[in-house]
Amino acid sequence: MITVENLKKVFSGKDGDVAALNGIDFSLDNGDIFGIIGMSGAGKSTLLRCITMLEKPDSGRILIDGTDILSLKGEALRKARRQMGVVFQGYNLLMQRTAAQNVAFPLELAKTPKKEIEKRIKELLALVKIEDKADFYPSQLSGGQKQRVAIARALATSPEALLCDEPTSALDSLTTKQVLGLLEEINKSLKTTIIIITHEIGVVRSICNKMAVIDGGRFVEQGSAEEIFADPKSEITRLLLGISEAAE
Ligand SMILES: Nc1ncnc2c1ncn2[C@@H]1O[C@H](COP(=O)(O)OP(=O)(O)OP(=O)(O)O)[C@@H](O)[C@H]1O
Ligand SMILES: [Mg+2]
Repeated sequence: MITVENLKKVFSGKDGDVAALNGIDFSLDNGDIFGIIGMSGAGKSTLLRCITMLEKPDSGRILIDGTDILSLKGEALRKARRQMGVVFQGYNLLMQRTAAQNVAFPLELAKTPKKEIEKRIKELLALVKIEDKADFYPSQLSGGQKQRVAIARALATSPEALLCDEPTSALDSLTTKQVLGLLEEINKSLKTTIIIITHEIGVVRSICNKMAVIDGGRFVEQGSAEEIFADPKSEITRLLLGISEAAE
């Protein structure tokens, strides 16, 4: 369903050029949970921002169900954007809006009828198990609760894919486990494809069926998570797994 071909992005600064993405290729099937892991500065957020069209890649293709979304304009582009829900490490909630109003936001943008919005808010807050916090403001919620609101908001337009940039890095280990459990449930019940960016190997180990290791804007290894954990090929992967001599 999602295919990325030879994606490249260079940032030019006063200290020269940084090739943040150096030719990224991958292909996912519907229902995959794909973990992209790498060290700081490897290009993870840039990749996610390019796939979700928050950033424009210099070249390459992003095919969703066979259509290159980089070639879309106007209503077709807006429609493609609604197929992708995004979750950020810092939650990015609107502080002046309640949990329910945050979830309503993308539906208001999509001009969904009011009645329908109310129904969706109830369904979504129940899905992420915070119905009782509907009228709370973000400042009144814990980190895990805020991330649940952010996940509900990302799912509001019923996207085919959910893209998460370090969704659990600001959370403690028990809350991380709960949020990952929620993502897994969503993947199973709604068949949502999930891309999850992380620097924590435990996140990949617990929920991903496919994985890639990114370094210097390139995938140095990718494939089935089970196979890579059993037999990591690249030095970076070994380092992340903590089994390299260099890590000792
Ligand atoms: N807007 C920008 N302008 C210039 N350089 C940028 C910009 N965004 C990212 N970069 C550079 O591109 C490279 C990749 O950055 P990116 O944010 O994708 O890394 P990351 O893997 O998400 O790191 P982290 O784990 O720290 O979040 C870095 O060298 C970064 O400095
Ligand atoms: Mg990042």
